[in-house]
Amino acid sequence: MPYAHITGWGMAAPETVLTNDDLSKMVETNDQWIRERTGIRERRIAKDGQTTSSLGVEAALKALTVANLRPTDLDLIICSTSTPDYIFPATACLIQDQIGATKAGAFDLLAACSGFIYAANMAAQAIRSGSIRNALVIGSETLSRFVNWKDRGTCILFGDGAGAFVLQASERPGGVYSAVMHSDGSGGDSLTLQGGGSRYPASEATIHEGRHFITMDGKEVFRFATRVMAQATHEALDAAGMKVEDVNWIVPHQANIRIIEAAARGLKLPMEKFVVNIERYGNTSTASIPIATVEAVEKGQIKPGDKLVMVGFGAGLTWGALTAEWTGPVPSKGHVYPAQYRALGRIRSFVRRAIRFIEGIIFRREL
Ligand code: UT7
Repeated sequence: MPYAHITGWGMAAPETVLTNDDLSKMVETNDQWIRERTGIRERRIAKDGQTTSSLGVEAALKALTVANLRPTDLDLIICSTSTPDYIFPATACLIQDQIGATKAGAFDLLAACSGFIYAANMAAQAIRSGSIRNALVIGSETLSRFVNWKDRGTCILFGDGAGAFVLQASERPGGVYSAVMHSDGSGGDSLTLQGGGSRYPASEATIHEGRHFITMDGKEVFRFATRVMAQATHEALDAAGMKVEDVNWIVPHQANIRIIEAAARGLKLPMEKFVVNIERYGNTSTASIPIATVEAVEKGQIKPGDKLVMVGFGAGLTWGALTAEWTGPVPSKGHVYPAQYRALGRIRSFVRRAIRFIEGIIFRREL
């Protein structure tokens, strides 16, 4: 049975920075409250034209470059997001087209802030089963487009960004060891975005009622989060036959520094073992774990051979954890430039659209 190694990683963060002081000019809040209650100092906001798929493409190309893997060698693309470009087509398909991953299957996965763990687990399982060899897992969000900028209970928390991993099959032991996934839909109403689905299709009324915005019972989510973080970590470690002492790094979902501190207390681990970058990005939902991982790898904190636990929670309610041994890029011959495939992908996409257009004219004539 092959192992599923994480061989590539990349992230994308919009350039526009929104600080707590900026927010204090928009709603009744202040820098001190936000820092003390959440640990957030600033977050990134997508500019016009930047979307979940465009951030995903940027992160994906970086991950493929690190892995030295051609987009055309990908078998599977999973995009975890709660803020897709459209309800359909899937954001994963938009990314597949833009990077020129001609033979990959592609789909979106919605498990909110736990999504990246679910998606990495699904990709790892597909590799472990032997059905695929190369997968791209992306967590991408443009939450700023769905935040009510008049609601100080939510707008201070969220930010935009994307992170991506390449997972590859290898006979060498390592990579993703175990994962646990949980859900409890009875708590679904504590964090929602209701408008635009089949229950509340977009209408004037849904706009007036604010149903196209994120709503949250912060205290409820906080309580739930502090309960499940340590529990899911222990479960994933047990499944891998590992102990808390074996772990070099915990990469938690970056939702609130107080939630991470509670998890550290629950696991009896020092905060130094936790990768934390919430201060600069806020809560980027499913993108937060890969972004934190990428930064820790680039800073030289996470090194090949290190044992990690990624753990998250979010709307659904969902939660989960994944254990892995960090591999790093696998040695490979030659140099691949995935960005060139993006240019080729654009040409290919244009040609396919043109062919479809011509076929449309011919078929209409024949009818
Ligand atoms: O990815 C998963 C997504 N969500 C989460 O993880 C969220 C989890 N929850 C939280 O992080 C926290 O509950 C919040 C940060 C959202 C809120 O923190 P809190 O410590 O639970 O604050 P609170 O709602 O209990 O409010 C405490 C006080 C209240 O004032 P009073 O009633 O004590 O006078 C609020 O009105 O702070 C006030 N407050 C604010 N003040 C300044 C609430 N929001 C703000 C604000 N600025 N932005």
